Amino acid sequence: MFENISNHLFNQEELKQVEYHISKYPKKMSAVMPVLWMIQEKFGWISIDSMKYVGELLELPYEHVLGVATFYTMYFKKPVGKYHLQICTNVSCMLCGGDKLFKYVSDKLGIKNKEVTSDGIFSIEEVECLGSCGTAPMLQVNNKEYYENLTLPQVDELLDRFRAEASKN
Ligand code: FES
Repeated sequence: MFENISNHLFNQEELKQVEYHISKYPKKMSAVMPVLWMIQEKFGWISIDSMKYVGELLELPYEHVLGVATFYTMYFKKPVGKYHLQICTNVSCMLCGGDKLFKYVSDKLGIKNKEVTSDGIFSIEEVECLGSCGTAPMLQVNNKEYYENLTLPQVDELLDRFRAEASKN
Protein backbone atom coordinates (compact mmCIF):
# COMPACT_ATOMS: atom_id res chain seq x y z
CA MET A 1 0.00 0.00 0.00
CA PHE A 2 2.87 2.40 0.70
CA GLU A 3 5.30 1.47 -2.13
CA ASN A 4 5.65 5.06 -3.35
CA ILE A 5 7.14 6.25 -0.05
CA SER A 6 10.93 5.96 0.01
CA ASN A 7 11.85 6.92 3.56
CA HIS A 8 9.81 5.16 6.20
CA LEU A 9 9.61 6.06 9.88
CA PHE A 10 7.55 2.93 10.50
CA ASN A 11 8.69 -0.68 10.10
CA GLN A 12 6.65 -3.34 8.27
CA GLU A 13 4.71 -4.33 11.34
CA GLU A 14 3.81 -0.73 12.11
CA LEU A 15 2.77 -0.18 8.50
CA LYS A 16 0.36 -3.10 8.86
CA GLN A 17 -1.05 -1.32 11.89
CA VAL A 18 -1.48 1.83 9.79
CA GLU A 19 -3.33 -0.25 7.17
CA TYR A 20 -5.56 -1.60 9.91
CA HIS A 21 -6.42 1.93 11.08
CA ILE A 22 -7.14 3.00 7.49
CA SER A 23 -9.43 -0.04 7.03
CA LYS A 24 -11.67 1.14 9.88
CA TYR A 25 -12.82 4.26 8.07
CA PRO A 26 -14.51 5.02 4.75
CA LYS A 27 -11.78 7.58 3.95
CA LYS A 28 -8.03 7.18 4.40
CA MET A 29 -7.72 10.66 5.91
CA SER A 30 -9.85 9.63 8.90
CA ALA A 31 -6.98 7.53 10.23
CA VAL A 32 -4.93 10.65 10.94
CA MET A 33 -5.50 10.61 14.70
CA PRO A 34 -4.53 6.99 15.44
CA VAL A 35 -1.54 7.26 13.08
CA LEU A 36 -0.34 10.44 14.79
CA TRP A 37 -0.75 8.58 18.07
CA MET A 38 1.45 5.75 16.75
CA ILE A 39 4.15 8.31 15.92
CA GLN A 40 3.99 9.76 19.41
CA GLU A 41 4.10 6.34 21.06
CA LYS A 42 7.18 5.45 19.01
CA PHE A 43 9.17 8.69 19.20
CA GLY A 44 7.74 10.40 22.31
CA TRP A 45 6.62 13.45 20.34
CA ILE A 46 5.55 14.48 16.84
CA SER A 47 8.05 16.39 14.73
CA ILE A 48 7.30 18.37 11.56
CA ASP A 49 9.02 15.63 9.53
CA SER A 50 6.84 12.95 11.08
CA MET A 51 3.71 15.01 10.35
CA LYS A 52 4.84 15.15 6.71
CA TYR A 53 5.34 11.39 6.80
CA VAL A 54 1.81 10.85 8.16
CA GLY A 55 0.57 13.11 5.36
CA GLU A 56 2.32 10.91 2.80
CA LEU A 57 0.89 7.73 4.30
CA LEU A 58 -2.64 9.09 4.30
CA GLU A 59 -2.33 11.16 1.12
CA LEU A 60 -3.09 14.32 3.03
CA PRO A 61 -1.48 17.75 2.81
CA TYR A 62 0.98 18.36 5.62
CA GLU A 63 -1.10 21.40 6.67
CA HIS A 64 -4.07 19.16 7.41
CA VAL A 65 -1.96 16.88 9.63
CA LEU A 66 -0.46 19.93 11.34
CA GLY A 67 -3.97 21.29 11.98
CA VAL A 68 -5.02 18.07 13.73
CA ALA A 69 -1.79 17.76 15.72
CA THR A 70 -1.94 21.34 16.94
CA PHE A 71 -5.64 21.23 17.83
CA TYR A 72 -5.27 18.46 20.42
CA THR A 73 -3.02 18.88 23.46
CA MET A 74 -2.64 15.09 23.69
CA TYR A 75 -0.21 15.36 20.76
CA PHE A 76 3.18 16.67 21.81
CA LYS A 77 4.72 18.98 19.20
CA LYS A 78 7.97 19.31 21.12
CA PRO A 79 10.01 16.82 23.13
CA VAL A 80 8.59 16.48 26.65
CA GLY A 81 10.02 15.42 29.98
CA LYS A 82 9.78 11.92 31.43
CA TYR A 83 6.79 13.28 33.34
CA HIS A 84 4.74 15.64 31.22
CA LEU A 85 2.38 17.56 33.50
CA GLN A 86 -0.66 19.06 31.82
CA ILE A 87 -2.47 21.47 34.10
CA CYS A 88 -5.98 22.60 33.25
CA THR A 89 -6.69 26.30 33.67
CA ASN A 90 -10.12 26.30 32.05
CA VAL A 91 -13.14 27.79 33.83
CA SER A 92 -13.92 25.19 36.53
CA CYS A 93 -10.27 24.59 37.29
CA MET A 94 -9.48 28.31 37.26
CA LEU A 95 -12.28 28.98 39.75
CA CYS A 96 -10.81 26.27 41.99
CA GLY A 97 -7.21 27.51 41.70
CA GLY A 98 -5.97 25.85 38.50
CA ASP A 99 -4.09 28.95 37.39
CA LYS A 100 -2.42 29.21 40.80
CA LEU A 101 -1.57 25.54 40.58
CA PHE A 102 0.06 26.08 37.20
CA LYS A 103 2.10 29.02 38.47
CA TYR A 104 3.12 27.09 41.57
CA VAL A 105 4.41 24.11 39.55
CA SER A 106 6.03 26.41 37.01
CA ASP A 107 7.89 28.36 39.73
CA LYS A 108 8.82 25.23 41.65
CA LEU A 109 10.32 23.52 38.60
CA GLY A 110 11.77 26.74 37.17
CA ILE A 111 10.22 26.21 33.75
CA LYS A 112 7.55 27.98 31.74
CA ASN A 113 4.70 26.61 29.64
CA LYS A 114 5.89 23.80 27.26
CA GLU A 115 9.43 23.83 28.65
CA VAL A 116 11.41 20.86 29.96
CA THR A 117 13.58 20.88 33.10
CA SER A 118 17.31 20.68 32.40
CA ASP A 119 17.45 17.15 33.84
CA GLY A 120 14.69 16.08 31.41
CA ILE A 121 12.45 14.82 34.21
CA PHE A 122 9.57 17.29 33.99
CA SER A 123 7.77 19.37 31.42
CA ILE A 124 4.63 21.41 31.94
CA GLU A 125 1.81 22.53 29.74
CA GLU A 126 -1.23 24.67 30.39
CA VAL A 127 -4.23 22.96 28.78
CA GLU A 128 -7.93 23.42 28.20
CA CYS A 129 -10.62 21.33 29.91
CA LEU A 130 -9.65 17.68 30.39
CA GLY A 131 -13.18 16.64 31.38
CA SER A 132 -12.53 16.50 35.09
CA CYS A 133 -14.28 19.76 36.00
CA GLY A 134 -16.10 18.27 39.00
CA THR A 135 -12.80 17.40 40.65
CA ALA A 136 -10.93 20.62 39.89
CA PRO A 137 -8.16 21.61 40.12
CA MET A 138 -6.45 18.77 38.35
CA LEU A 139 -3.42 17.74 36.38
CA GLN A 140 -2.78 14.93 33.97
CA VAL A 141 0.51 13.08 33.71
CA ASN A 142 1.78 11.58 30.44
CA ASN A 143 -1.67 11.61 28.84
CA LYS A 144 -2.73 8.82 31.20
CA GLU A 145 -3.02 9.51 34.91
CA TYR A 146 -5.36 12.08 36.44
CA TYR A 147 -4.65 13.74 39.79
CA GLU A 148 -7.69 15.57 41.06
CA ASN A 149 -8.88 17.89 43.85
CA LEU A 150 -5.26 18.88 44.16
CA THR A 151 -3.79 20.91 46.98
CA LEU A 152 -0.30 22.42 46.83
CA PRO A 153 1.11 19.99 49.46
CA GLN A 154 -0.24 17.09 47.36
CA VAL A 155 1.52 18.52 44.33
CA ASP A 156 4.76 18.70 46.31
CA GLU A 157 4.37 15.04 47.25
CA LEU A 158 3.61 14.09 43.66
CA LEU A 159 6.67 15.89 42.27
CA ASP A 160 8.89 14.31 44.96
CA ARG A 161 7.54 10.87 44.10
CA PHE A 162 8.13 11.32 40.38
CA ARG A 163 11.64 12.63 41.00
CA ALA A 164 12.41 9.62 43.23
CA GLU A 165 11.02 7.21 40.58
CA ALA A 166 13.06 8.90 37.86
CA SER A 167 16.26 8.56 39.88
CA LYS A 168 15.74 4.78 40.15
CA ASN A 169 15.60 4.27 36.37
S1 FES B 1 -12.21 22.92 33.53
FE1 FES B 1 -10.49 21.78 34.21
S2 FES B 1 -11.06 19.75 33.78
FE2 FES B 1 -12.72 20.90 33.03
